[in-house]
Order: sequence, then structure tokens, then C-alpha cells
Amino acid sequence: MLNIEITNEEFDKIRKFVKSRVGISLSDQKATMVRGRLHKRLNELGMSSFSEYYRYLSSPEGEEEITSFISAISTNVTSFFRSPHHWVYLKEHLDELFLSKPKKKIRIWSAACSSGEEPYSIMIFLRENLKDFESWDIKILATDISHKALEKALKGEYKQKDVEGMQKAIIHRNFTQRKTPMGIVYDIDPALRSKIIFRTFNLVNDDFSIFKFHFDIIFCRNVMIYFDSDTRKALISRFAKLLPKGHTFIIGDSEAITENKSEFALVKSSIYKRI
Ligand SMILES: C[S@@+](CC[C@H](N)C(=O)[O-])C[C@H]1O[C@@H](n2cnc3c(N)ncnc32)[C@H](O)[C@@H]1O
Repeated sequence: MLNIEITNEEFDKIRKFVKSRVGISLSDQKATMVRGRLHKRLNELGMSSFSEYYRYLSSPEGEEEITSFISAISTNVTSFFRSPHHWVYLKEHLDELFLSKPKKKIRIWSAACSSGEEPYSIMIFLRENLKDFESWDIKILATDISHKALEKALKGEYKQKDVEGMQKAIIHRNFTQRKTPMGIVYDIDPALRSKIIFRTFNLVNDDFSIFKFHFDIIFCRNVMIYFDSDTRKALISRFAKLLPKGHTFIIGDSEAITENKSEFALVKSSIYKRI
């Protein structure tokens, strides 16, 4: 494998490009990390310099490469029922959030859904907690920038270690088990999957005006940490337009809304309401 170094100039070009296309901010200290995580990728592509990689990344042919780049520098890490206190909150506020809806219609957006654990957790939560679940009109929009993550999400196929945090009875009601040469696989119930619409969507650069309806809840967890404060602020304002007054916005445990105070009020750690 070729040992490829990154010059300051190359890092700066890549950094500006990534900031404008996906809103991810890379500080000066990240040059070593970018080099370390991408030099294997450059070798795979048969490239000998980061200048060559930059030209590819910013060309029309490099469109798909942006996803590989993001995967290399960010993480797709997720899990079923991540951040337990979010689910406790939803359960405690079931009446106000769901049962009070005369039309029995629920619309939720899992923005940056990674490999699907988040939207499936929401659907499992609703099935487990709403009486007459089948009579409700429920749709979850689940989006991510990564095609690879979405492919996995669409399959809805998980390993033992992915589901083991859930109660056995919940696994039993919402997955079917299958033996494969690689071990036991858990397939999400297709009835749950059919209520989820998976789409690619870049939260920084794609057009929010395509949404012609409002959401009851938006989950945008553990992705805004990668964005700089201007990008985050603009994104939160775009979410605000899709949430009527009183509706809920849930972000990652380690995140907080520090600006946009006229749009969202804190209800509980990382849970906000539109004002
Ligand atoms: C750490 S995962 C979070 C998954 C899930 N929300 C959770 O909290 O478990 C972050 C996800 O954000 C996605 N992502 C990164 N930049 C994005 C962007 N500009 N637009 C949409 N998704 C993005 C990544 O592909 C990744 O799947």
C-alpha cells in the first residue's frame, strides 16, 4: 500500500468542499485523521495523491464518493432504543403525543436514520404502546445521506448482538428468526417495514420545500455534532418550519440547541418542543 501524505493545501481544499456539500466542519487538527482514514480508500481507488482524490470528489463522477468519504470520517453507529430516556419520555407522554389525535394519524421523521434501528425502534414502540395499532394511519420518513446505511435499513435484517438489548417478548413479536451459515438473523416484521419510507436526503444541501406536510415528531439524533454552528442553526430552523407549535423535536444525548431559542423550548435533556 502506498503511503500517501496530505499537504495543508490539499486538506484545505477537501475541507472547504466537504463543508459546502455536507456541512461537516473539519478543524485543522483533523488533517491527520482525514489522512489516516482515507489513505486506504485512495489506494483502493488507485490514486497517488489527495489532489487527485479532491479532483475526483468534486467531479460529477465523484458524486457517489461523497458517501464513502462521509462514512470514513463520521460514524453510522446506532442501536435499537438508543438513549433510553427518550423512550421513557414518549411512553410517559403517550396521551398528549399520540392518543389525543382524533384522526389517529401519526407522521414522524427519523432524519439521519443510519441503518434503520432508529425508525424501527419508533415503529416497535408505537406497536407495543398504541391500542389498536393496526387502525392507526402511521408513516415514518427515514432518511440518511449514506446509500450503504439505507440499503441495510431497507433489508431490515439484524444480528443477535443488534437486538440483544431488547426484551425477548418484544423481539418475538416484531422480528422473525432465521438460521443462516453466518448465525441467527432477525428480520423485522414486514408489516412494520411497510409503514416506513426510506429515502436518501442530505440534511445540509437538499431542498426542504419538498415536504408539503407537517410532522408530529422529528428525530435528528447524533448527526448535528458533525456540523458547525451556522449549519446547525440553519438546519434547526428548517426543521422548525415542519413542526407546528407544541410538536416534539428530539436530538442526540450529547447535543443541545444553543441558538434557535425562539423556535424551540427545552422540555427535558435533548427533548424540545416547538414554540
Ligand atoms: C451516528 S449516526 C446516527 C444514527 C441515529 N440517528 C442514531 O442516533 O442512532 C449519524 C448518521 O448521520 C448521517 N449523516 C451524516 N451527514 C449527513 C447529512 N449531511 N445528511 C444526512 N445524513 C447525514 C450518517 O450517514 C450517519 O448514518
